[in-house]
Formats: sequence, structure tokens, C-alpha cells
Amino acid sequence: MQPDPQLIRALYERYLSQKSAEVFTSNLAPLRAEEMCVLDLNNVVGRSAYAHDYIHQNHLGLVLLAGGIGSRLGADTPKGCVGVTPVRKKSLFQVHFEKINVLRKIYDVAIRVYLMTSTPLIEETEGFLRQHDYFGFPPENLFIFTQHEMPAICPEDGSCCWSAPGQIYFGPDGHGGLISALHSSGAFRDMERCGIETLQTFHVDNPLVPLMNEEFLAFHLQKRSEMSSVVIEKQTALEAVGNVVRDGEQLRVIEYMDFPREIAELMDSEGRLLYHAGSIGVHLIDVAFLKRMAGRVKADPEFLPYHLPVKKISTTEGPKWAIKPERFIFDILPHAQNPVVARVAREDAFATLKAEVPPVQEHLTRLYTAWLRRCGALDDNFTPSCVEIAPDAALDETTLLSKLRGARFFEPNLYIDEESLVG
Ligand code: UD1
Repeated sequence: MQPDPQLIRALYERYLSQKSAEVFTSNLAPLRAEEMCVLDLNNVVGRSAYAHDYIHQNHLGLVLLAGGIGSRLGADTPKGCVGVTPVRKKSLFQVHFEKINVLRKIYDVAIRVYLMTSTPLIEETEGFLRQHDYFGFPPENLFIFTQHEMPAICPEDGSCCWSAPGQIYFGPDGHGGLISALHSSGAFRDMERCGIETLQTFHVDNPLVPLMNEEFLAFHLQKRSEMSSVVIEKQTALEAVGNVVRDGEQLRVIEYMDFPREIAELMDSEGRLLYHAGSIGVHLIDVAFLKRMAGRVKADPEFLPYHLPVKKISTTEGPKWAIKPERFIFDILPHAQNPVVARVAREDAFATLKAEVPPVQEHLTRLYTAWLRRCGALDDNFTPSCVEIAPDAALDETTLLSKLRGARFFEPNLYIDEESLVG
């Protein structure tokens, strides 16, 4: 692969000018509470007959974004292969596929999953899934494809970096690369063949990600939204999440590093963050809209601009900071008709693996302990050290309650799956 010198020069010039210029001025406003629907993740099934039927008809496909290199984790292995659950140490891929298997049963449908990975990760990703028999998911319903790549640029002089002698460093082009990759891989044709009209995109790194939520889907379809997003309330002004904001008539996601601190720190009269809506990277996207966006990107590469984060990469000179041009899928949001936003409670939906595994495990244990306690399955004076509830036992608290039938638990390391509830 050869880099495009003109493009590299243009990106480097933009990088230099952004460093000194005012990054951001526009007509921003925070989302108002009444603009959002609030999803109840404690009770997820049976919320909308219309959405249920839509899923049953196989019109909703899933897009698992798993092409990122995970530089913060410092592991060369794909993030999806990392064990994150508190007791069984199940990998992120296992958690997602086990959840999807439960959804296949609930909706009696062969869910289509599009898994985007990248050139450095594809072999290991495919090998890992094959080795584990795709965690029970039928491989004929899994469409794996790779995204395109961009060269890393040296921040000092705009030259390319070298991954090996004579070999220019190329890295994945950001999850915005999904748009052209869906086209070039034949995934769009596959969707047409299977009757998929809407996609849910989600990040591989969050084991609590809400999947195929009926309430969210119903909201999206009823409003005829072309793209909808899920948010949580930000914990701190500078939390490393994208900010979902209103920009005049449009909605946008502004990544934390591009969001001016003085705006991020604004408070309302009750001392809460004015810009409170943090993206968890979950979107429902109309396939026709996505195809339209793919056409726009093809006709004009500037349509979806590259962001220029500086990340650590491995080069011939050892680890080095480099500019990694990346496109973001959420940059198509301002072009979407009738975009809508749904809010979820962060403890129910956001336990993302960033730099370390233990915070994810602690989060899961906290959540599942709370479910069990509210269901009356734990003594008041007993708190287990680790708790894991397998997807086949329950995807939410209401289902768990209906299956517990008075069971009580006393083990310090507690793993609950369907079998243990039947027994
Ligand atoms: C991301 C979001 C942020 C959001 C946060 C929630 C971006 C740019 N930022 O931050 O707005 O609030 O998640 O956790 O997305 N990926 C690819 N190919 C790539 C790059 C990434 O498939 O080239 C995938 C990753 O595998 C991962 C997801 O996209 O599943 C997120 O990427 P990452 O770069 O880790 O973004 P975050 O910093 O976590």
C-alpha cells in the first residue's frame, strides 16, 4: 500500500494550524431533558410489540466495531479477546455473542452480525472466534470484514513513520472507516439480500452495551430517525467521552479532546453539568442513510474529515507518538434527518474497558450484586466478592427476578447461569 503524499501534506498542515488556532467556535447548546427518551434497562423485553416484530422480521442488524488497536490497554491482542467478567473471565467477544444468542431465542430470528476488524487484528480475531466455536453463534450469520488503513504521521516534521525497515506504518482509519468498508466488503449487498433496514453499531469494549433495545428501536422508528444515539450523564466535565450536543438545528458528537474546557465546565443553576450527555458509542442507523453517506464520502473525501489524534505506536525507533488520521462514524450525525437521543443509567449500560480490566470487573460485580439484593437473593449482611450473571440467566433484573423463584446465594464467588437457576 502507498500513502497519498498530497493527503498526508494536507493533513499535516491542518494538524499544525489546529495547534495554534482557536479550535472551536459555533452555535452550541446542550440537549434538553425533554429531547431525550429515558430507557429502562431493568426491564428490556416486551416494551414495544412493533419493535419486537421488526426484530423478529430480521430488519435490524448488529455492527460490532472491533478494529481499534487498543493502544491504552497496551496489549497487542484484539480487545474482544480480553477476559473481563468477574468470575469466569469471559472475553468481550464471548459476552457479546452469548447475549446475541439469548436475543436470537427471544426474537426467534437469525440475527445478522457484521464484525468490523482491521488488518493487524483480523487473523487473531478470526482464529479466536473459530477456536471457541463462535461461542455458539452460527458463523453463517457472521459477516467479518476489515476496514481501510491510513499512514501514521510524524508530529515533528510531517513525514511517515516506519513500522519495520522499508515498511511505512499503516493503522486502521477510525470507526468512520465503516462507511466505505461496508461498501467495499459487500456488506451493503448482504444487507439488501437479508432485508436488513436498520443497523445498531456498538463498541467491542463495553460488556454492558444495550443490544437491540425495543424501546430505543421503537423511538427511532416512530420518529423516522435516520440516526439515533444512546447517552449517559457525564460524571465529570472532562470525562473521556464524546459530547452529544445541539448545534443549531442539528445534533453532533464532539469528542472530548475537541471540546473546549470552558464549555465542558459550564454548570446549570442547580450545579449540574450543562453539557451532560456523554456518548456510549451506540447508534441506530438507517441503512439507506448510511448508503447515501457512503456515496457522499466516495464523491468527496473531505465530506467526512479525518480527526488527528496523537497516539503511541510501535516504530523502528521504538514506541513513538504519532498522528493517526481517523474518521469517526458519529460525524455523519449532523446529516441525519430527525435524529433522536436516548438516555440510560450509566451503571446499567457503561462498563467500558479502557486501560485496565479490574474496574470493569468491579463494575459488573456491583451491578449484579445490586440486582440480586433487590431481588431478595442475598442476606442483608452478606456481600459476595465477585458476582457474574451469565446472559442466558438474565439480560436484565426483571427477567432475573422471574427466574430466581426464591433462590438465595451465599458463595463469595458467585456465577449464575441458566443451568444453576434450573437446578
Ligand atoms: C469512544 C468514543 C467516545 C465515546 C467512548 C465511549 C470515538 C472516537 N470516541 O472513545 O465518543 O464516548 O468511546 O466508550 O469513538 N474502532 C474501530 N476501528 C478504529 C478505531 C476504533 O473499529 O479504527 C472501534 C474500537 O475497536 C472500539 C470503538 O471503535 O470498539 C471505540 O474506539 P476507541 O478508539 O477505543 O474510542 P474511545 O476512546 O474508547
